[in-house]
Amino acid sequence: MSRKLIAGNWKMNMTRAEGVALASELAARLKAASPAGFDMLVCPPATLVAPVADALAGTALAVGGQDCSAHDKGAHTGDTSAAMLKDLGAGFVLVGHSERRTDHKETDAEVAAKAEAAWRHGLVAVICIGETEAERDAGKTLAVCSTQLAGSIPAGATSANTVIAYEPVWAIGTGRTPTAADVAEVHAHIRKELAGKVDNPAATRVLYGGSVKPSNAAELMAVANVDGALVGGASLKADDFWGIAAAV
Ligand code: PGA
Repeated sequence: MSRKLIAGNWKMNMTRAEGVALASELAARLKAASPAGFDMLVCPPATLVAPVADALAGTALAVGGQDCSAHDKGAHTGDTSAAMLKDLGAGFVLVGHSERRTDHKETDAEVAAKAEAAWRHGLVAVICIGETEAERDAGKTLAVCSTQLAGSIPAGATSANTVIAYEPVWAIGTGRTPTAADVAEVHAHIRKELAGKVDNPAATRVLYGGSVKPSNAAELMAVANVDGALVGGASLKADDFWGIAAAV
């Protein structure tokens, strides 16, 4: 079993002052709790990766991007490369978050190309997957996860360069979560599907995401094959995010 990873996805939120204050507060709590039994990561918007990484230099709190280009550089207006994130101090990057898949029509192939770009520049790729509500209602959850894993994980994935985040789309930002039994079923399925796709499936962290909060974190994080959480809304307040970590 791997050390759990508690990751915060700030999405398109936070000013510089707010982000630096939140990150600094979390780093201070992490230091006070040392040795903490978990790893912690915050993923600010691209505009704040530099000031947050600067504020966290020398601390145990890691920084990641929320997306990266599949390209290393060049004529891609508005995009951010993995090399740029690395240059600012990021160690991780989310790829294939459902909001990217929906808002920007990202395909599994594009997500895989982004993961490869992340690896080229020494970033850990947090590859996000998850079914929509319609897919769930149609009984297709496991099949959708299998397809997304097969298409989104490039050859060369290892337990060190890759984290999987299972986030049912219908649970993101809705306050609804699958039952612990449902999470157990999907995570066991994902673990099985990682065979042949990563070098060491047992050591690869598989996070659960979707309406994780302090009040449900203990139950969700205790489920077999759940190696941490990817947290959106509740990662924007130090008490809530810390409360989730403390539940681990
Ligand atoms: P949520 O978002 O915790 O606000 O549901 C999770 C995510 O989108 O990563």
